[in-house]
Amino acid sequence: MSAGDWNIEADYQAFCANCHGASGAGDGQAALAMGPPPANFSDPRFWIGEGVDQGAFDVIKRGGAAAGLSAAMPAWGDRYDDARINIWVRYLRQRFAPGQTITSGENNDEAVN
Ligand code: HEC
Repeated sequence: MSAGDWNIEADYQAFCANCHGASGAGDGQAALAMGPPPANFSDPRFWIGEGVDQGAFDVIKRGGAAAGLSAAMPAWGDRYDDARINIWVRYLRQRFAPGQTITSGENNDEAVN
């Protein structure tokens, strides 16, 4: 699969929306049975602070349990390489909390588009 073939939006709807919700609010069908619920990506506050991107990267790669979060969050490291996981983080940030003000984090001032 080359980068150009990857439809991340389709993957989101296929693999993530069931829990994280079509609009990223953590309100997918499967989330109803979960405690704690998935993160709310559409709340700009979720994305503020140092290490948020790294944290999201680790959770996507190794799953929730490895990060001390809910084990309901699967690990995706077998499906996506590191470059793609980085793209996931940018995608989630950009798609669900566009136009947010980034208030801290040295590496967060890069343009995400
Ligand atoms: C079976 C349900 C489920 C699926 C499918 C799922 N997630 Fe999650 N996800 C969760 C839960 C539950 C949490 C963590 C909640 C907690 O403990 O804070 C989580 C956490 C996360 C976090 C970290 C949020 C934080 O608090 O740092 C990211 C990023 C994330 N998921 C991305 C994805 C992506 C991308 C996909 C699809 C490729 C996906 N998830 C698929 C349930 C799911």
